[in-house]
Amino acid sequence: MARGGLTETAIRLTGVTVRFGGLAAVSAMDLAVGAGSIHGLIGPNGAGKTTLFNAVSGFVHRDAGRIEILSVDTAGRGAHEVAALGVGRTFQNIRLFGELSVLENVLIGFHLRTRAMPVSAILRLPGFGRREAELVTDARALLSEVGLGAEAEKPAHTLPYGHQRKLEIVRALASRPKVLLLDEPAAGMNTREKEELRAFLRGVRERHNLTLLVIEHDVKLVLGLCERITVMDHGERISEGDPETVRRDPKVIEAYLGEAV
Ligand SMILES: Nc1ncnc2c1ncn2[C@@H]1O[C@H](COP(=O)(O)OP(=O)(O)OP(=O)(O)O)[C@@H](O)[C@H]1O
Ligand SMILES: [Mg+2]
Repeated sequence: MARGGLTETAIRLTGVTVRFGGLAAVSAMDLAVGAGSIHGLIGPNGAGKTTLFNAVSGFVHRDAGRIEILSVDTAGRGAHEVAALGVGRTFQNIRLFGELSVLENVLIGFHLRTRAMPVSAILRLPGFGRREAELVTDARALLSEVGLGAEAEKPAHTLPYGHQRKLEIVRALASRPKVLLLDEPAAGMNTREKEELRAFLRGVRERHNLTLLVIEHDVKLVLGLCERITVMDHGERISEGDPETVRRDPKVIEAYLGEAV
């Protein structure tokens, strides 16, 4: 599994528990995501998938357990510090700056990497220094790579929904992550956009030498995209394996897939 000299396991959770009051949204979860792999995380609504992402990316505090990113223990690190370890993410609900241009949204992603520069300075076009000009060149290159080059100057909210989702991924890529967490990237996409997304994510993984952990409800997409899948229910891992194994697991069929798949 190791690619490009990365450690074997990009994300490792051991006994991770996250409680909200009396509810264990994530309960003693173990998870190992191979470096360079595309790993799916599926399960019914409320299973704890987003909470697990929040724990990994430092957005919520874990009550128990250990989380390692590229062999670094993230205990006590907040979201910015985890991002600095090379963790990028997107959110279940699109979080773009709709009135800002597509290009400016990507530049905000770069800001995560170059924290010395306040966002206001990044966005104060023109009056750019050489460093800022380089960032703009990089941002345009990323946008071209994903077919959004011609949309760079448009306000983000004017893009079709599928392109907004793509833009979120590009913004996350701008921070040059080693590990990318995608929370329902295909939500709201039509069939054609979903097919494009699958090829896009595979390409992104190759070109950026990434590990991808993907939450997604579209079962066809998950089965076709991921090399390994973990299934959660009620905060716990109920199944794990390659797509075929998971698809046939009676526990998964009962809790999530139903008989139709
Ligand atoms: N900030 C919070 N405070 C209290 N309870 C929360 C909080 N966030 C999540 N929960 C609860 O934790 C449980 C797991 O929620 P989570 O959002 O992680 O599920 P999910 O698997 O991502 O579901 P979905 O597929 O609907 O997005 C749910 O019961 C939810 O109501
Ligand atoms: Mg969720």
